[in-house]
Amino acid sequence: MKKPRVARTDRLTTVWLCLATGAAAVTIVARGLIPQNLWTTIHLVTLGVLSNGIFQWSWYFVRALAHLGPTESRAGRDNTVRIAIFNASLVALIAGMWAGAWVVTVAGASAVGIVASWHGYALLSASRERLASRFAVIIRYYIAAAFFLVVGAILAGLVTVAMFDPGAPDWLTSARDRLTVAHAMAGVAGWVGLTMGGTMVTLGPTAMRTRMDPAAVSFATTALPLWVAGLVTSEVGALIGSMRIASLGLLIVIGAAALGVGVPLGRAACAKGPSEYGAWSLVLGGAWILVAGAGACLHAFEAGDASALRAAFLPWLPILGAAGLGQVFVGALAYMMPVVIGGGPSAVRVGIAVLEAGAPIREASRNIAAVFALSVASLAGAQALRLTIAAWVVLLSTYVIDIVLMARCGVAQARAKRAASSPSQQGVRRG
Ligand code: HEM
Repeated sequence: MKKPRVARTDRLTTVWLCLATGAAAVTIVARGLIPQNLWTTIHLVTLGVLSNGIFQWSWYFVRALAHLGPTESRAGRDNTVRIAIFNASLVALIAGMWAGAWVVTVAGASAVGIVASWHGYALLSASRERLASRFAVIIRYYIAAAFFLVVGAILAGLVTVAMFDPGAPDWLTSARDRLTVAHAMAGVAGWVGLTMGGTMVTLGPTAMRTRMDPAAVSFATTALPLWVAGLVTSEVGALIGSMRIASLGLLIVIGAAALGVGVPLGRAACAKGPSEYGAWSLVLGGAWILVAGAGACLHAFEAGDASALRAAFLPWLPILGAAGLGQVFVGALAYMMPVVIGGGPSAVRVGIAVLEAGAPIREASRNIAAVFALSVASLAGAQALRLTIAAWVVLLSTYVIDIVLMARCGVAQARAKRAASSPSQQGVRRG
């Protein structure tokens, strides 16, 4: 049967990955050169790279988990339309943020919210049809994640009105920091966190090439309502200005993530720990997310209000992004790429060999640089600044190497795949 043509929307993720890496490099050497520097860098990663990746890959997993057919439009054509609208909205959002035009940012945030609702509804209908699957809970993680992107988009729209509309009411401008904290938590712990958490349940052991813990699905099932309840609590806490309630909510979220994802993954790792670059990146990235989450929880407990929390958590933000979320994303890609390109065991081995080049050094450099960047972040003076810049240059370089190796992996494996399927090879095999 002829395979249906699939639009290569994953290429958009690659484009945003290159843009995000470029923006981070510019920020390191010349902070302030890019308009809305902090916002742009954060959102090139969270919306450009991570959200594109989520829209793309969550359907890849749902297709497998819910046994959707190859012509299934929810995972195919509809998803391509969603991704196209999402990317057009993202470009509009960046333009609106740079120009300070709240009408454009509100329109962009609304479009993102609509795409997220459509994505969530499509997942819900797919999960309803295939409830028999043992892994249906993972689809429920994705549905909850989509819900929090809708919440995050609504809050973001309000934040941009508070930022750019001179006629914004006082209650809105005075709530700006509370809304921003609630927005960031919905995006990080909800949209990205729940998606990554749900995916790790099955992808973690697969990437470690070991068996899933027999109780993993039941752990994940128990943790999901706790995670959602914790996040709703922290959202309410942030919005009403009670950082203690926000802190309690975050504590529940971290506990749920550790219980639902960390414990079964740790038990699977006891049988066979990570040995490849992808698996190590997944595990270390997951650990950084939990550490940064604990940091957020502690800072929220100590902060008097949302503005103090934002200021205190600022040095942690790039660590959460680059050592946590970014590392999990790259780990998942490094494992998935050779699998998806395929071509048989020998072609897959060619792809893996390219991605494994200098893996221990790359992994160690990235994580030591992250520890170093965090340790010197609170120091003042020119020397400390130079050390911070050095740490970030090392950390960012590991991602540049990843991008180059992934491109080389694609080319080398495709070549090996073609060679394996060429008539002469098949003749040799038959002979
Ligand atoms: C609908 C799309 C989104 C829009 C329009 C948007 C907009 C904004 C705005 C206006 C701010 C405040 C910037 C400032 O005060 O300078 C912000 C902050 C932030 N956003 Fe978003 N955002 C979106 C999606 C996301 C997503 C999906 C995530 C995470 C996965 C995220 C994470 C953050 C973080 C971490 C901050 C920084 C919070 C801080 O400075 O304390 N955003 N966003």
